Amino acid sequence: MSRPVVSIVGAGNVGEHVANIIAINELADVRMFDLARKTEDKVFEIVKGKALDIKQMATSLGKDVNVEGFTVTPEGDGYEPLEGSDIIVVTAGFPRRPGMSRDDLLSKNVGIIRTVSERIKQFAPNAIVIVVSNPVDVMAYAAFKITGFPKNRVIGMAGVLDTARFKTFLSQELNVSVKSINAYVLGGHGDEMVPVLTVSNVAGIPLKDLIPEDRLNEIVERTKFGGGEIVNYMGTSAYHAPGSSTAYMVEAILKDKKEVLPCSVYLEGEDAQYYEADDIYIGVPVKLGKNGVEEVEKIPLNEAERENWRKSVQSVKAGINRIKELGLI
Ligand code: NAI
Ligand code: 2OP
Repeated sequence: MSRPVVSIVGAGNVGEHVANIIAINELADVRMFDLARKTEDKVFEIVKGKALDIKQMATSLGKDVNVEGFTVTPEGDGYEPLEGSDIIVVTAGFPRRPGMSRDDLLSKNVGIIRTVSERIKQFAPNAIVIVVSNPVDVMAYAAFKITGFPKNRVIGMAGVLDTARFKTFLSQELNVSVKSINAYVLGGHGDEMVPVLTVSNVAGIPLKDLIPEDRLNEIVERTKFGGGEIVNYMGTSAYHAPGSSTAYMVEAILKDKKEVLPCSVYLEGEDAQYYEADDIYIGVPVKLGKNGVEEVEKIPLNEAERENWRKSVQSVKAGINRIKELGLI
């Protein structure tokens, strides 16, 4: 039997960490795709070097996986090796740079998602796609529209990361294993994300019975700005936890675990009615298995949480509406 294949488009900080964890855990063969870097006198195919390095790292640990790197162009050349991929992780994108407006960033990143999505559709029409590039809810929406794949096969990664941050702070506060904490952070991957306190607990004991309200609010706020906290320290965004959170989703799918994880998914019909959000990608708990998103779970939200949820929906909707107004999808 052959190993599954996971392709990663965008072998930057996050992409290479996804590849790394997949290889260390022998989850799948990995194919990495990225652009060449050109200097005055040389063209570097960094992705090929990174793939070789990760392959040799796996060998040093006694792990049997293939890891290959492929150089692609911004115009979409070089994507043929996507063929046969079971899962494709998309981490290609630009961060916002000084002087760049939000619209500039949106149009640059949707442009990349367009090219990559078209190639995925062409070479791997049955793959499951996990979008990581930011703003992730909007980019996942764009990938869903451009690939035309069914909604169960296009998923955004954010909630697993945001929940890991929340659990980190809770475990530090309570001096308890992260494994004893049940927590969910839902909504869009932005300042309006919604840590759901009513369903978050330690061994079934509600957080409000363990942590004073003021302190709990501080932890919630720190979680919401968890990405920004790391950017302030490093001058670039996080990649270890984003990489491991993505690899965790990959594993849930490859092993058909049916694990319920917060992911950014397309809402319509009954799910849209429950979450008061239609035609949107946003973070909700879903069952992940071999078919990708196998079920959307309807988590109970109290009135205060609903209020925050609605703000998060509005914020993601604004991004989606903007890419429509700009004619990008
Ligand atoms: P990075 O800059 O290290 O890597 C991005 C890679 O994409 C680069 O290697 C670049 O060459 C490549 N790339 C750019 N245009 C491309 C194209 N047209 N085709 C193929 N590759 C292309 O950035 P990093 O830190 O890895 O972040 C990647 C993305 O993930 C960013 O948009 C970031 O904001 C997002 N992110 C999302 C998170 C989430 O929770 N959803 C968490 C962390 C990062
Ligand atoms: C993060 O949350 C910036 O989305 C990135 O670390």
